[in-house]
Amino acid sequence: MDVSIIGTGYVGLVSGVSLAAKGHHVTCYDINEKVVDSLNSGIPHIYESGLQELLISVLNEGMFTVKLISDRTSLENDLIIIAVGTPSENGKIDLSYVKQVSESIGKYIKENNKSFVSVIVKSTVTPGTTHTIVRRIIEKTSGKKLGQFGLGMNPEFLREGNAIEDFMNPDRIILGHDDTETLKLLQELYSPWNCEKIAVNTKTAEMIKYANNSLLATQISAVNELANIAAAIGGIDIVDVMNGVHTDKRWSPILPDKSRIYPEILTYLLPGCGFGGSCFPKDVQALQSKAYEVGVEPHILDSVLKVNDNQPYQVIKLLKKSLIDLEDKKILLLGLAFKPGTDDVRESVSLKIIDYLCKDKARVIAHDPIAIKNAKKKLDNISGVSFTKHWDVKLPEVDAVVIATKWSEYKQLFSKDNLQKIKGKIVLDARRMFYPDHFPDSIYLSIGRS
Ligand code: NAD
Ligand code: UGA
Repeated sequence: MDVSIIGTGYVGLVSGVSLAAKGHHVTCYDINEKVVDSLNSGIPHIYESGLQELLISVLNEGMFTVKLISDRTSLENDLIIIAVGTPSENGKIDLSYVKQVSESIGKYIKENNKSFVSVIVKSTVTPGTTHTIVRRIIEKTSGKKLGQFGLGMNPEFLREGNAIEDFMNPDRIILGHDDTETLKLLQELYSPWNCEKIAVNTKTAEMIKYANNSLLATQISAVNELANIAAAIGGIDIVDVMNGVHTDKRWSPILPDKSRIYPEILTYLLPGCGFGGSCFPKDVQALQSKAYEVGVEPHILDSVLKVNDNQPYQVIKLLKKSLIDLEDKKILLLGLAFKPGTDDVRESVSLKIIDYLCKDKARVIAHDPIAIKNAKKKLDNISGVSFTKHWDVKLPEVDAVVIATKWSEYKQLFSKDNLQKIKGKIVLDARRMFYPDHFPDSIYLSIGRS
């Protein structure tokens, strides 16, 4: 198929190169000229494992290209996918990019002499957006009615850091559609994929995406609340508690040979310093605000966000208990990305921890294997932070080490050399990467353990 994708970020680019690798002709569009130029020369503007190799391969095969979008862009395709950002604006979804793109598509449909075009929303949008807002804008600008063009909603479930793998091997594909022609086109688009495909209306497709992210975020806040309670009671380590909980066969089913399946959901049931990233915080907020709009008080979503807002401060509380005053204390902060495997720092908990530390006049030395450049842009006007490429060299000069992102290279903290350097110092494991007995000669602190 010939496919246009508008918005060439994490979702648009990964979807584009993956669809091209499966045999479709894909043109991605973006408003950012630098992004367009960089991608056409084979250099991704985001970090994702395996992305560059796939990009170069589909460019060389002539299956993929990126173009700058303008008012006069001619989207010569039968299927147009919207993959622009849907950020949060004061807790509500900001649909301005989606609206802008819908208008351009409407104009294209008006001028296009082909008989039928389907517009597929892949961006995460609140239930009803595709069928009301997107449809109305396209109808108004094109002068055509739904049916003369098609409308679909195909939510994306990829995780950053694992994006290509997730797109190529999805658990399921949701084929949201408001007309049968669009369903046929979506089925054709995804015919190279063998996973379960679920056909629903566009509102249901939108709600599936929010329900999925909200439930994952709920697990994280639930376990973080349990961790805080356990720590306050004292004499309990929440990791031991969760080991006991996870062995309930409803969490980890027992097979006939007595071995167990440990589903990935269990990783969301481990304590930490909170969730971040470009999606969980904004998506839970968007559904929360939608709930109020439709007259439902979302007690659980309210609490999920409240617990998460407070969780980074648990790190400061723990540090203050041991160091008393943070002024002029040197803190080595390990990890700036919102999770390992990505250079994305959007809503990263690490940045919130840095902000608190700097307000308390601590001196922060921050490290990340790939996210320093992005973090510097966000921390531009905060004084008291410096950055290092070699965290192990800094160990002798700091008062405390805080592990804020679970990058595997930080396992090296447990090497003989490094253990020597952190003797008597504080190791605050905010992601529960280690066990207390890994650091017999340091002061090991962590979330969920008094
Ligand atoms: P992103 O910010 O990485 O990319 C969006 C791209 O759209 C940018 O490159 C921007 O320049 C471009 N853009 C903005 N306005 C445009 C316009 N008018 N015309 C053309 N291009 C335009 O965003 P993302 O992380 O890819 O997220 C996109 C959507 O997918 C969001 O709704 C998000 O919630 C959802 N989503 C994201 C992920 C993820 O892991 N990042 C996963 C699933 C779903
Ligand atoms: C998440 C979902 O997992 C994807 O399915 C979805 O497509 C995506 O949001 C989206 O809608 O954009 P992602 O944000 O890339 O993907 O990352 P996750 O691995 O789910 O982690 C999200 C946040 O939760 C991170 O800050 C991570 O550190 C935190 N987290 C995760 C925890 O605090 N504890 C955990 O046990 C797991």
